[in-house]
Amino acid sequence: MTERNGADSVALAYDGWAPIYDLVFGPVFREGRRVATQAAERVGGRILEVGVGTGLSLAGYRRENTIFGMDISAPMLWKARGRVERQGLGHVGGLAVMDAERLAFGDDSFDVIVAQYVVTAVPNPERALDEFLRVVRPGGEIIIATRVGAESGLRGTIERALMPVTSRLGWRTEFPWSRYADWVAGAAGAKLLERRPLPPLGHFSLVRITKDARSAKATSSMAASTGGGPVAQRMASSPHKES
Ligand SMILES: C[S@@+](CC[C@H](N)C(=O)[O-])C[C@H]1O[C@@H](n2cnc3c(N)ncnc32)[C@H](O)[C@@H]1O
Repeated sequence: MTERNGADSVALAYDGWAPIYDLVFGPVFREGRRVATQAAERVGGRILEVGVGTGLSLAGYRRENTIFGMDISAPMLWKARGRVERQGLGHVGGLAVMDAERLAFGDDSFDVIVAQYVVTAVPNPERALDEFLRVVRPGGEIIIATRVGAESGLRGTIERALMPVTSRLGWRTEFPWSRYADWVAGAAGAKLLERRPLPPLGHFSLVRITKDARSAKATSSMAASTGGGPVAQRMASSPHKES
């Protein structure tokens, strides 16, 4: 499967989930979303919600913040846009279809990046994490609510066996903590602040990562290649919501 096909099939899976997503995944992740939103607000400011989905968490942010939401699935974002309009969520600065692995924003654009139940869905999680680190400002935070798979044992075996099925549904079951730990160890400027368990079943974690303010990391020239700056500005200044 090519990388593009990988992203397309994830998008297709969530296009299919969109009409029933809130019903199926609304309550089960509610507490995790609340904890992640609270963690994001401790930094506050310009917040990017990666994989915002149907926008279930948007109303939970205080109005002093400005929230930008992006997702690879347009039908999920249509739901988010409806929610923004129905609930009058004026603190939502923009919603856009975008790939987490190729964020159309310049370096250091946000105070906080929030990714709730997304990292294990993208085809190349480490590439998405690189992008989060690139677009967050030094001293800002990356807040991740995530499923963490078993490293070994029976649960690990079951999770590996389930992969062909769950990949088609839009997520990985196999995703050991070592994937995060190895990424943090290898990404210049990334520093793990916290990992804490989240419900349900103890299979989920809240992960907080900061970008070292002293880091001289060359955050790459991807913004230029993706046209990041202008899109970020358009999203920030446009009075209408994009999707
Ligand atoms: C399990 S849902 C979580 C949605 C929302 N964050 C929540 O808490 O309900 C995963 C979301 O990630 C989005 N997604 C998957 N791969 C993506 C990618 N490469 N770029 C952006 N969004 C992606 C999906 O379309 C879906 O909306």
